Amino acid sequence: ARRLSKVLQLTLAVIKPDAVAHPVMLEALHQRILDNNFVIVKCKGLVWRRQDSERFYAEHSGRFFYQRLVEFMASGPMRAYLLAREDAIRHWRELMGPTKVFRARYTAPESIRGQFGLTDTRNTTHGSDSIESARREIDFFFPDFCMEEWMDKEEPLFR
Ligand code: TYD
Ligand code: MG
Repeated sequence: ARRLSKVLQLTLAVIKPDAVAHPVMLEALHQRILDNNFVIVKCKGLVWRRQDSERFYAEHSGRFFYQRLVEFMASGPMRAYLLAREDAIRHWRELMGPTKVFRARYTAPESIRGQFGLTDTRNTTHGSDSIESARREIDFFFPDFCMEEWMDKEEPLFR
């Protein structure tokens, strides 16, 4: 039998303020997570201060969209998910679709951003893009979570 555990992964997914502001969109996104075989390990609502936003997106500081981005991400409530699945990082990125709204509309109309994205900045969701960023981002949103402990305890259940 195939051992899913070999590639069991955790990723961080965030529903951004533009989507949380619309209950129908929020519900559709939540359903999308469930329909795609993710296990929701943790989920919480939160609001960022501007300094949280600046810290999280520090890698983009200096880029033309940085000010707009950090302001938007601190503009209202978000919902963060810690998700588990085989190959979770790639699957969530694929479900989200491309970053830029026109590319998403034209090349991946079924994707989350293709369906719901408003602009390049107000693009509904975030997803970690590598194992390293997932670690950092999970720790940023869920500092009490211990990945090693979770894997030891839960990973066998996925076999
Ligand atoms: P990035 O990490 O490139 O995209 P992704 O969210 O797909 O990993 O950029 C982070 C966020 O910055 C992106 O979700 C929205 C914002 N952004 C803009 O507002 N304009 C842009 O041109 C880009 C590339 C990103
Ligand atoms: Mg990114």
